[in-house]
Parts: sequence; C-alpha cells; structure tokens
Amino acid sequence: MYQQVLHKSSLAHRHILVTGGAGFIGSNITEYLLLHGAKVRVLDNLATGKRENISDFLDHSGFEFIEGDLRNPNDCIRACIGIDAVCHQAAIGSVPRSIKDPITTNDVNIGGFVNMLTAAKDAGIKRFVYASSSSVYGDEPNLPKKEDRIGNPLSPYAVTKFTNEVYASVFSRCFDLELIGLRYFNIFGPKQDPDGEYAAVMPLFIKDLINNEAPYINGDGEQSRDFTFIHNAVQANILALTIDNSLAYNQAYNIAFGERFSINQMYDAIRVYLQKDIQAIHRAPRAGDIRDSLADISKAQDLLGYKPQFSFENGLPITIEYFRKIFAQG
Ligand SMILES: NC(=O)c1ccc[n+]([C@@H]2O[C@H](COP(=O)([O-])OP(=O)(O)OC[C@H]3O[C@@H](n4cnc5c(N)ncnc54)[C@H](O)[C@@H]3O)[C@@H](O)[C@H]2O)c1
Repeated sequence: MYQQVLHKSSLAHRHILVTGGAGFIGSNITEYLLLHGAKVRVLDNLATGKRENISDFLDHSGFEFIEGDLRNPNDCIRACIGIDAVCHQAAIGSVPRSIKDPITTNDVNIGGFVNMLTAAKDAGIKRFVYASSSSVYGDEPNLPKKEDRIGNPLSPYAVTKFTNEVYASVFSRCFDLELIGLRYFNIFGPKQDPDGEYAAVMPLFIKDLINNEAPYINGDGEQSRDFTFIHNAVQANILALTIDNSLAYNQAYNIAFGERFSINQMYDAIRVYLQKDIQAIHRAPRAGDIRDSLADISKAQDLLGYKPQFSFENGLPITIEYFRKIFAQG
C-alpha cells in the first residue's frame, strides 16, 4: 500500500522517532518510512499498541524499538538521541476512556507531550510533528470544521489534545522549532485495534459481522463522521515530516477526506460488503461525543500539499479484507 512516493525530500538515512509506533497509526507511518529508506526508532510502552504491529520490522536493519514510557523524561531523552525529526503519535486515545480515567489521559497526553517536546528541543531536533484530533472542535456547531474556529472541549481527551496545540504554539514562540499538529478525523484501516472496551466502532462492526453477531450502535446512528483511511493520515505525516516551507510550521491542520457518512451508513456499507443480514442494536448515546463531524481540508492542501488518495469507499474494502484475514488466522 505504501510503495508510492509521498515524500518531498529524501528520507534515505533520516533518523525519525515515531512515538506510539506500535499503535495503529504509528505502525503504518513506520512501515512507510522504512520502505522508503528512513531509519526509524519507535518509543512505545505497549499500553494500547501491540508487538504484532511491529513484528515485521524487528529484523529490519533500520528499525529500533525502545519499550519506554512518555511519562518518564529519561525515556524521552534516550529516544531523541541521534534523531532528525519526531513523529509523535503516542497518547491514550478514546473519549470514553478519558471520562473514566482522566488522570492517566492527562498524565500521558499532556505530561508526556511536554516531556517529548522538551527532550526534542534539548536534543536540537527542530521538526516535531504531532497527532492532534478533531475532538478539539468540541461544541463548535458549524460544518465543515475550519482550523481557526474551535469551541469548548467536550471530554478530558479533547482537553489534552487542545492543550497539546497550546503547548506547541508556546514552544514555537519560545524556541526555534518547526511544530506541525495534525487534527485527525476518525482514521480507519489495517492495524486498528478491534478488541477491548475502547475499540473504535468500525473494526468492532467488522468483527461482529464476521462472527455473525449484532453490534451495538450508540444513539440513533445518524451522527456522522469524516471517516479517513489510514493511507491519507500517513501521507499527511510524511508531508509534515519532510516539507520545507516555513509558512507550514507552527500550525495545526485538519487531516480527513472531506466527506461525511453516518454511523448507520457505515454499518450498512460493511454489512452489504460482507453480505450479512444482521440488524445492529441501538443503545443510549455516549457521553462526550460530538454529533456531526466534517473537515475542511483546504489548509492542509494549500500548505502541506496534502491530497488524500483514498475515499471512504476505497478504504473500506481494504480494511474489511485485512480484518477478514486477521480473524481467520485466529
Ligand atoms: N485513530 C483515530 O481515529 C485518531 C483520531 C484522532 C487522534 N488520534 C491520535 O492519533 C494518535 C495515534 O492513535 P492510534 O489510533 O494509532 O492509537 P493507538 O492506541 O493504536 O496508538 C497509540 C500508541 O501510543 C502508545 N502509548 C500510550 N501511552 C504511552 C506512554 N505512556 N508511553 C509510550 N507509549 C504510549 C500505545 O501503546 C500505542 O501504541 C494518538 O495521539 C491519538 O490520540 C487518533
């Protein structure tokens, strides 16, 4: 999937630190970087990431894994030695998890973020790309979402991502850094975790339908999302890591496809693809969720050269086939 060249300047022999590289998005970014000649170090404590996600890279001469924790400043310092650019993906994701345990989400997503920023700065690393989230739009009602118009956060998770952006802005003023924040909108695709209490809805639906079980839909299912295939998120990270344009630094960008589908539409698309005649079970809406989400992606298009290549319809079959294979392997 990542054969095509998406980067603008050579990656060969660049040393990139991917935090959270054993997770869904980080392991896909790692795959692209290794394929195109970069040296990659992953820092991950395997809290939600998996060894399976990096098992294919362990024999690669350009790959190094540090099992460590963002909350430990020394792990961050060690991870930054000899690094040219940081791609910071590690965080405790999930809105409901942050409502259940705001302290851990805060410690990792804010404390860990500041540890990483400081370690990168002290190591003389300028380029620091980090994962933000569409959750920063909170209760801002207008669609599509534009970067400069945000509302009040609706969950502790959203507070942490918003705070990351505030810290990035302050660090960019105080130090000579090139910080780029990527506000992901519902990323989906291979290696997303289908298990556990906080699994994302798409892999859950696929898993349940493959197992001939009826999944739950929170609320009426008419809430909508800008579902974004992982390839597009990888492209955005690669562009952000390699772009040479000072106007693009110290900004946050919407990273999405720019189309929205309701949860019911998404469920139906999976059900039809898998040829299952199973109705989902509706239950109470979830606290902290936003109703509708759709991105205006023109800022990333203009400043980063971002051109998402996979629509929801293109990415869905790749995702379903990936999970079909994974579940068949047991
Ligand atoms: N998946 C999405 O749709 C989405 C949407 C918006 C934002 N994001 C953000 O993108 C990033 C990647 O998300 P993902 O979907 O790949 O999630 P993920 O859970 O698969 O990956 C996160 C990784 O961070 C690691 N991690 C967690 N706490 C850590 C710690 N204390 N020290 C070191 N490593 C730690 C986990 O083990 C995991 O490998 C996160 O910052 C997330 O908040 C994701």
